[in-house]
Amino acid sequence: MPAPILKYPMQNFVGKTAVITGGGSGIGEALARRASALGMNAVLADIDVTAAERVASELSSRGTRVLAVQTDVADATSVAALADAAWTAFGSVDLLCNNAGVVPAGRYRPVWEYPLEDWYWSFGVNTMGIVHGLRSFVPRMLEQGTPGHILNTASVAGFISGSGSPVYSAAKHAVVRITEALYASLIERNANIGVTLLCPGLVATAIYNSERNRPAELVPVTGIAEETEELQAIADNLYKSALSAEEVAIQSFAAIRDNQFYVITSNNFDATIRERAEAILARRNPRFENLLVLSKGDVKS
Ligand SMILES: NC(=O)c1ccc[n+]([C@@H]2O[C@H](COP(=O)([O-])OP(=O)(O)OC[C@H]3O[C@@H](n4cnc5c(N)ncnc54)[C@H](O)[C@@H]3O)[C@@H](O)[C@H]2O)c1
Repeated sequence: MPAPILKYPMQNFVGKTAVITGGGSGIGEALARRASALGMNAVLADIDVTAAERVASELSSRGTRVLAVQTDVADATSVAALADAAWTAFGSVDLLCNNAGVVPAGRYRPVWEYPLEDWYWSFGVNTMGIVHGLRSFVPRMLEQGTPGHILNTASVAGFISGSGSPVYSAAKHAVVRITEALYASLIERNANIGVTLLCPGLVATAIYNSERNRPAELVPVTGIAEETEELQAIADNLYKSALSAEEVAIQSFAAIRDNQFYVITSNNFDATIRERAEAILARRNPRFENLLVLSKGDVKS
């Protein structure tokens, strides 16, 4: 079979519509600001509707047509309602950014000891949030037939392994696999929709205060892990090397325009990704001595 011809579906942003989940904070907010600066309409979907409305009112005051929609990406019905609201307001969706995500707080534990609630919450938002976005938007974007793009936010955690952060990292590994399937399926259909897998390293956002958005029914019976001064100091230290959300948004829109699939915003993790890939191909047992510290919850006591 001949190699697919690389297409560049989204060259023109002016007057097009972007839907951004998690648009009320961090990377989602920066993507929304960038979309607005490029002349796009923006639909900001967030479980924290006050945050989404704050960003929306600021963008609106600059002349952007913008809509804030309270959305729980872990809930298929809520995401279907988001799609309806976007098409009703703007008549088309050209760019979908499945970006909302959460990191459950807590000190390092072995994989068998994390509470079930952490697994359900992480996979519900980080993985099923993407699945719900694809199910509600892709058929309608295909039907629309116009050039478009889908950006899914995974993480470098989607490529690396070891004992740290399995609840978050496994959910992001699934996002990588799902997004590669999306890319392949759209190429098979010769669709005019590009795909980007955004894999940030550390970015200075509110992600490590994700607990603010945990639903009450998914609070473990043992309670939410406490933030100690020691853990806060570790987080502050991690952030010293963090990229800004604005820089991530700039890289993301360049990738959307160039139809670039993998966007890995930091090369700090390349050696770890390579070591794992080489161990797999060599059928060698993995070496995880370079335990990645992805969050303050990874630190062993
Ligand atoms: N900040 C980092 O270092 C980093 C690194 C790699 C990947 N990421 C990924 O980037 C994405 C954006 O995170 P961020 O760093 O901007 O964090 P953030 O906490 O600043 O923003 C996340 C947004 O998602 C929203 N959200 C949470 N649960 C939701 C739900 N159920 N439905 C809808 N919205 C929900 C939050 O209200 C918030 O506005 C996430 O997928 C995260 O996993 C972040």
